[in-house]
Amino acid sequence: MNIEPPAMPYDFADLEPAMSRDTLVFHFLRHQRVCFDRMLAMVRGSELEALPLDELIRVTECIPAQHTLYRYAAEVWNHNLFWRSMRPRGGGAAHGAVGEHIRTRFGSYERFTREFKETASAQFGSGWLWLVWRDDALEILATSNAATPLVRGDTAILALDLWEHAYYLDHQNRRAAYVSAFLEELVDWDFANRTLANLAVSSDAPAARVRTVTETDRGRLSVR
Ligand SMILES: [Fe+2]
Repeated sequence: MNIEPPAMPYDFADLEPAMSRDTLVFHFLRHQRVCFDRMLAMVRGSELEALPLDELIRVTECIPAQHTLYRYAAEVWNHNLFWRSMRPRGGGAAHGAVGEHIRTRFGSYERFTREFKETASAQFGSGWLWLVWRDDALEILATSNAATPLVRGDTAILALDLWEHAYYLDHQNRRAAYVSAFLEELVDWDFANRTLANLAVSSDAPAARVRTVTETDRGRLSVR
């Protein structure tokens, strides 16, 4: 298996009081870890077992018969990015290159936060909110259920889990309060800046570009 088990980049209580220890314990152990275990059970002994996580997601997304596996794998990837999008004593206005791109794209950080909150509120049911890099600009994007921008060629700069399990213990049904806490006390703009910087490096190196899923892949991997 080429996929590492999920790991938290901080202790469960480190995000308090903005996000409680109980929320992180349940979220990590009862949601992400369950997706990882089910994904592992489905790929064990097959050709898919050799794929890294991002490749497994791209390949299974193309194959309707593999969509249950795709959803588990995407949820593992999405949560990995979500944990790293937060840090203890985070939050506040974006700085560095990401801050400059936010001002260019949205006019000001305040306008960005307004659109970020509005997009989160408009997402019906479970899903994810993303800040992505697309066509040389930042975009706010919402996806439903386990859907991930990874398969659309966007580069995810930040992830925010909009499933109720991410905020119900702390905020009950008040999604807006959870999104505000993320922006004001949790978001890690240093991580966003590192992701953007790495993207600039990798886009100059053809060997590091994303490999396209081929028809051969689809045919080979759909047979188990
Ligand atoms: Fe989640």
